[in-house]
Amino acid sequence: MEIRTLVNERFLQACRRQQTDVTPVWFMRQAGRYDPDYRKIRERHSLLDICAEPELCAEVTMMPVRKLGVDAAILFSDIMVPVGAMGLEFTIRENVGPVIAQPIRTKQDIENLRPFTPSEALPHVLTSIRLLRAELDIPLIGFTGGPFTLASYMIEGGPSRDYLHTKTMMVSRPDLWQTLMDKLADMVIHYGRAQVEAGAAALQVFDSWVGSLSVDAFRKSVKPFMTRIFHELRKLDVPLIYFGVNTGELLGDFAETGASVIGVDWRVPLSRARARVGNQVALQGNFDPAMLFAPIDVIDKLAQDILDEGTATPGYVFNLGHGVKPSTDLGVLRHLVETVHAYTPTQTGQGAR
Ligand code: CP3
Repeated sequence: MEIRTLVNERFLQACRRQQTDVTPVWFMRQAGRYDPDYRKIRERHSLLDICAEPELCAEVTMMPVRKLGVDAAILFSDIMVPVGAMGLEFTIRENVGPVIAQPIRTKQDIENLRPFTPSEALPHVLTSIRLLRAELDIPLIGFTGGPFTLASYMIEGGPSRDYLHTKTMMVSRPDLWQTLMDKLADMVIHYGRAQVEAGAAALQVFDSWVGSLSVDAFRKSVKPFMTRIFHELRKLDVPLIYFGVNTGELLGDFAETGASVIGVDWRVPLSRARARVGNQVALQGNFDPAMLFAPIDVIDKLAQDILDEGTATPGYVFNLGHGVKPSTDLGVLRHLVETVHAYTPTQTGQGAR
């Protein structure tokens, strides 16, 4: 299959903390329900059908690239797809998220999980990536869920407010926790590697809910697995993005895992995030997705402030602090991309360009 030359590498350059012509931008959940054409496709196909059908998956992945002018594409899939391939049945319930009929609670449940070989379990995902690599002239981001976030769905059986079962297993059955996290870390490594071999130019680990942990719990029960994952994935020589929500207190530890780009939510100003992570990693974020419903002049001012802080140090990718909300206006997203690309630093001595 044909491999395209990337005409726009500014996303990869920023991830590597190199100079860029303008600040790169993409949005978490950039393919989704805010787009009427996506909603139309969803009338005829389930989310998991789209993930399983390479032509459709590639089409949906490219929709925001064409409509918004973003600098990176992200594979259309879900963090639960490889969990299904490990033998745990799940559904994705509208406005709820992943739901698992038989959550994992015992040693036997964990032992029953199948080892994960991407080319056997998810060949269609790798086909989608190859199709996209032939079509796209901007980088494609592959992704997986973080072991903690995946474990939380597997153990709770669905979304959770307090992660009671998960945290209980973590502290009262550290042996089970270790076995489960090791299996998930192996999956993340194998899946990440397969995605890069198929053509993904960067990987993002979505550890959306890891911010529910204390710093101590993160260090003891999650960080060793993340460190192993990024140590292995670093050999692929692609940018590795580590993202979670509510992770302000964890950012320093995030930077020590071996990830090369740290995703930041909107609660922490980028200047403070930078102070916590040091200068050896790039930053990605952190426009509050709720602020996309603000008047345009408020949006522009917020974007300007974020860009001033982000570009103060080399290595910055503009993004939201979490995913695009389904009721967001497509025109506002397009405007935000233009604003980011048109940005010139306002303050003397600021800006990396
Ligand atoms: O454009 C992209 O960002 C790529 C596609 C993508 C999806 N899920 C498709 C999807 C990505 C990167 C994900 C990751 C994902 N899935 C995460 C991590 C990111 C985050 O938001 O924190 C999580 C926690 C999940 C689990 C999950 N899947 C949730 C919480 C939901 C939302 C449920 C709802 O209806 O609001 C899903 C469903 C899902 N995955 C949608 C999309 C576009 C919703 C739209 C639909 O059902 O068509």
